[in-house]
Amino acid sequence: MKMFSVRFILLILCMFFSRSLSKLERLKHPVTKSDGSLDILVVGDWGRQGGFNQSLVAQQMGLVGEQLDIDYVISVGDNFYDDGLKNDTDPAFESSFSHIYTHPSLQKKWYSVLGNHDYRGNVSAQLSHVLTQKDERWICRRSFVLFSGMVEFFFVDTTPFVEEYFTDPEDHTYDWSNVLPKDRYISNLLHDLDSALNKSRATWKFVVGHHGIKTAGEHGPTQELIDQLLPILERNKVDVYMNGHDHCLQHIGSERGIQFLTSGGGSKAWRGVILPVDPKELKLYYDGQGFMSLHITRSKTKFIYYDVSGNVLHQFTLSKTFGH
Ligand SMILES: *[C@@H]1O[C@H](CO)[C@@H](O)[C@H](O)[C@H]1NC(C)=O
Ligand SMILES: *[C@@H]1O[C@H](CO)[C@@H](O)[C@H](O)[C@H]1NC(C)=O
Ligand SMILES: *[C@@H]1O[C@H](CO)[C@@H](O)[C@H](O)[C@H]1NC(C)=O
Ligand SMILES: *[C@@H]1O[C@H](CO)[C@@H](O)[C@H](O)[C@H]1NC(C)=O
Repeated sequence: MKMFSVRFILLILCMFFSRSLSKLERLKHPVTKSDGSLDILVVGDWGRQGGFNQSLVAQQMGLVGEQLDIDYVISVGDNFYDDGLKNDTDPAFESSFSHIYTHPSLQKKWYSVLGNHDYRGNVSAQLSHVLTQKDERWICRRSFVLFSGMVEFFFVDTTPFVEEYFTDPEDHTYDWSNVLPKDRYISNLLHDLDSALNKSRATWKFVVGHHGIKTAGEHGPTQELIDQLLPILERNKVDVYMNGHDHCLQHIGSERGIQFLTSGGGSKAWRGVILPVDPKELKLYYDGQGFMSLHITRSKTKFIYYDVSGNVLHQFTLSKTFGH
């Protein structure tokens, strides 16, 4: 009897801790502007030691960042090419990040997810606090929630969803430590995301991942995300899903429903490919370098897309109506 109750208590404790450990980490970024608004830049697919116009994009991000007085930057992954970081002393951290995004306006937090190329290196190095000690802007996690006034960003680690990286990795090796068994990793992640979205009382719910759900870029839509992630985003009425992976800038969406944004123009681009998508939904497809900005208020969010020279390619606004 006594033995039984000890085991029972241990079992309950284990269940409690395994659940609470798998909860999404919650970070907070305060709103500091007196009108309560937030300004953010979004860039992806960048880390090439300045090459393929990474430095030019960085320069324009600096100018736009200054003009908008940005609060922080979001990176949608593929932070270090071709194969992530080797360890936490890998000089690519400086040559592709610290020494590239040097403009004073970009000396803000960078909230980052991992892309498939980051998984080809040493993932724990890229997630290491040692990097944040070297450059306090750097905040990279697998999946997390960022609270910021009227908006919550839900960052999702999308690389482990893609079957092909496990079954047909070609010449690449992926660092799956802390991911296997994959099915459990994904079901925990989806469960935690669903419950975080459900609990959220934020005016705006924006989801960030590396891989695309709706995209006309050469990689095309990620079927695993359509099957497993999209139903959760739809059920919880998220406003926007944004990603990189395709090296281009895109806006796909209908009048109502989720807007799908790609900001994968941080360096190498110009693939010259456009896959068919519903022409009524395709608002922007730009197969070149650039980045995006968000201006968020309680009632409106304005999205602007810029090319490598800082020219505005496209912009749109989402509105909230507060009915009674
Ligand atoms: C860099 O951008 C310029 C436009 O400023 C473009 O002409 C050139 O092809 C780009 N280079 C690469 C490598 O993408
Ligand atoms: C980090 O990786 C590089 C390249 O593989 C290697 O030369 C270096 O010794 C490593 N540093 C540490 C601290 O392991
Ligand atoms: C990965 O990086 C971590 C942190 O730098 C280091 O401790 C570990 O040895 C690295 N692993 C490999 C396989 O190099
Ligand atoms: C949120 O959770 C509540 C309580 O568990 C549930 O009734 C509701 O259907 C959930 N909403 C969504 C959108 O899943």
